[in-house]
Amino acid sequence: MSDLVLTDHPALDALEREIASAILASADEAALEQVRISALGKKGSVSELLKSLGAMSPDERKVMGPAINGLRDRIQGLMAARRETLKAAALEARLATEKVDVTLPVREAPAEIGRVHPISQVMEELTAIFADMGFSVAEGPDIEDDFHNFTALNFPAGHPAREMHDTFFLPPGADGERKVLRTHTSPVQVRTMQAKKPPIRVICPGRTYRCDSDQTHTPMFHQVEGLVIDRHAHLGHLKWILEEFCKSFFEVEGVKMRFRPSFFPFTEPSMEVDIQCDRSRPGEIRFGEGNDWLEILGCGMVHPNVLRNCGIDPDEYQGFAWGMGIDRIAMLKYGMSDLRAFFEADVRWLSHYGFRPLDFPTLAGGLSA
Ligand code: DAH
Repeated sequence: MSDLVLTDHPALDALEREIASAILASADEAALEQVRISALGKKGSVSELLKSLGAMSPDERKVMGPAINGLRDRIQGLMAARRETLKAAALEARLATEKVDVTLPVREAPAEIGRVHPISQVMEELTAIFADMGFSVAEGPDIEDDFHNFTALNFPAGHPAREMHDTFFLPPGADGERKVLRTHTSPVQVRTMQAKKPPIRVICPGRTYRCDSDQTHTPMFHQVEGLVIDRHAHLGHLKWILEEFCKSFFEVEGVKMRFRPSFFPFTEPSMEVDIQCDRSRPGEIRFGEGNDWLEILGCGMVHPNVLRNCGIDPDEYQGFAWGMGIDRIAMLKYGMSDLRAFFEADVRWLSHYGFRPLDFPTLAGGLSA
């Protein structure tokens, strides 16, 4: 109240004191605005005084005019100063409440925390690699009939190779037939050849089932089948495709491969393929170097009986196929030692071995980067 100028008019002085103390008492801008309205608003106490000047005699006005106007000016000045103080205080309070602790850890968004399972990742990688070579993806049912899983693939009834598959049989249906959980992805070959005319170029990734369980076997696992049928498809093509695949998949410059004769009922000739690796460092396998060999897949020329069973003339068309365990190549590439962990749904395992959901594997952008 130090800037109060007392006039010779006690009533004005009292009013000025009253307004000035209301201004100083206002705790925020809204309260200050109320004081302004009650003093300087249309019907405010000071405005009323100003209006009363009109009714005064010239002599009276000469005295009262400057007094009232002076009062108004001082009130306005006081208000402006108080408004500034309140504004600064409000800003100060806001800054204090909105303080950010920059040392706090950043909280990740859900899309950052979720992880893609290594099997899904590897399926995406396979698909990217083979799509680049012109393959499309074919699928079939997990519950198969005996014809697609065995007979069409040249496993005659009673053939010992059937026993080797540790098949899960379903209870017999109304027709007495026992369906099976498919023991390999090869029945998708059959379904594809039945449904499409050559040329055919497909991969068939999916779940497969066998009654087996240990560190490297689980009752449900994954395979990817490859099938090419054309007039002149031959083993040279197969070798090139598999070599390109191994280089891309293991992300190395070159891989030596070894083709060993083998037997599958649905291919003739049949082979198993080993790839070069280095196992000299404990707990580590490197591909594209070293003197060790590791079996990764089975393959061969599709048996003429299979082509015939699927309605394709073996005198006109020929082709090759291969089958590979997805879980196995995932374990090899990403260094996981126990297959059973794949199916235990342990989030700690998944957050360690899983992949970021927004990093799609592409050949150009990097498969596993
Ligand atoms: N179906 C075979 C298995 O599960 C894998 C396989 C071998 C598939 C050779 C093929 C092939 O297409 O040509 O053991």
